Amino acid sequence: MTKQLNTGLIGCGGFVKAMHVPNLKANQKYRIHACADINVKAAEALAAETGAAYATDNIDRLLGDTAVDVVFITTTHDAHAALSVKAANAGKHILCEKPMAMNARECREVAAAVKANGVKYTVGYNRGMAPLVVRARELIKPISAKMLIYHRIQAPFPATHWTHNPAVGGGRFIGEGCHIFDLFCVLVDAPPVSVYASGGTFLDPAAVKIPDSGIVTITFADGSIATTLIASDGCPTFPKESTEIVCGGKAVMINDFTSLDYFGFDGQAKQTQTAAKQDKGQALEIDRLADAIINDAEAPNGILQAARAAVISYKVNESIATGKTLSINEQEYCL
Ligand SMILES: NC(=O)c1ccc[n+]([C@@H]2O[C@H](COP(=O)([O-])OP(=O)(O)OC[C@H]3O[C@@H](n4cnc5c(N)ncnc54)[C@H](O)[C@@H]3O)[C@@H](O)[C@H]2O)c1
Repeated sequence: MTKQLNTGLIGCGGFVKAMHVPNLKANQKYRIHACADINVKAAEALAAETGAAYATDNIDRLLGDTAVDVVFITTTHDAHAALSVKAANAGKHILCEKPMAMNARECREVAAAVKANGVKYTVGYNRGMAPLVVRARELIKPISAKMLIYHRIQAPFPATHWTHNPAVGGGRFIGEGCHIFDLFCVLVDAPPVSVYASGGTFLDPAAVKIPDSGIVTITFADGSIATTLIASDGCPTFPKESTEIVCGGKAVMINDFTSLDYFGFDGQAKQTQTAAKQDKGQALEIDRLADAIINDAEAPNGILQAARAAVISYKVNESIATGKTLSINEQEYCL
C-alpha cells in the first residue's frame, strides 16, 4: 500500500469533527496523527476520538513534528492565513478551510509561502467537486453559449455566530460567500471580470455590524452572468441551496446537492439524476489532495482558485459599501 499521510488537525471544532474526521477515517491514504487547538480540551477530545498520538495547544509543536506530512487548518477565519504561512514554512502540505485569508495582503503572503516551500495547498471550496456539480459541468461544457446562473443559499445563520464578527470571521460574504463565488468560477469557462452586490444586515443590527445578506452578481469575460442570493435570516424548512443554469436553449438545476434536473438534452424535456445522499464534494476534495501529495501532482483548489474567490468576496463588501460595480483583474488572483 502507498504511504499513509500523517495528518495534523489544527482547529478541533464542529466542522472538522462532523466532516473531515469521518472522511479521513474512511480514506486509506490518511492517518490522523495529532490534534491541536488553542482550546486544549477540544484537541484532547478529538485525539481521544480519533486515536491520534497526541493532543496539544502548542501549534508549533505540531508544526515542528517531522512525522506530520499534511495539516488541516479548520480554525476561525482570522487564523487561516498566518497558520497557512507557518505550516508552509514548516514544510507541511496544507488543506485550509475557507476562506483562504481575510484580505488581499494575506492572500499574497500565503501564496508566497506556499510557492517558496513547494508544498501542496488546497482551500476548502468543495462545491466544485460535488458529484452533481461535476455532472452539471459535463452537461454544459459542450454548449458553446454564455450562461445565466441563478443561485440561492439561505438558512438561519445566527447573529451570535463568530462568522459575523468582522475581526474573527470576516462576515458572511468573506467567510462563506467565497464558496459560491468559486462555484460560479468552476461552472463558467471564462474569468470573472466584474462584481456588483447590494446587501445589508438582515439579522439583529445590534449584534451584527457587517452586511450578512445580499444579492451578488458576477460577470464573466465571455458575457456569462451569475447571481446569488445569500440570506442569513433564512427559513430552516426551506431547501438551503439551489443552482439554476440556463444556456444555449438548455437548463440545469441542482437541488441542494441531492438531485439534478436537466432540460432540453438528448431531445428530452426533463431528465433527473438523484444522489443516494447529499454530497458537497468534501470526500473527493481530500482524496484528490492526497493523490497530489503522494504523486507530486497539482493540488485541487490551489492558490489561484483560492485567491480568485477570496478577491471576489472582498469586492462584494466594497461594492455593498460604495454601490459601485468593481472590476476584477487576473493579476489580483494569479499570485
Ligand atoms: N467547507 C465547508 O462546507 C465548511 C462548513 C462549515 C465550516 N467550514 C469551515 O471550517 C472552519 C471551522 O469551522 P467550525 O464550524 O468547525 O468552527 P468552530 O468554532 O466549531 O471550531 C473552530 C476551532 O478552532 C479553534 N481555534 C481558533 N483559533 C485557533 C488557532 N489560532 N489555533 C488553533 N485552533 C484555533 C477554536 O478553539 C475551535 O475549537 C471554518 O473555516 C469554517 O468556515 C467549512
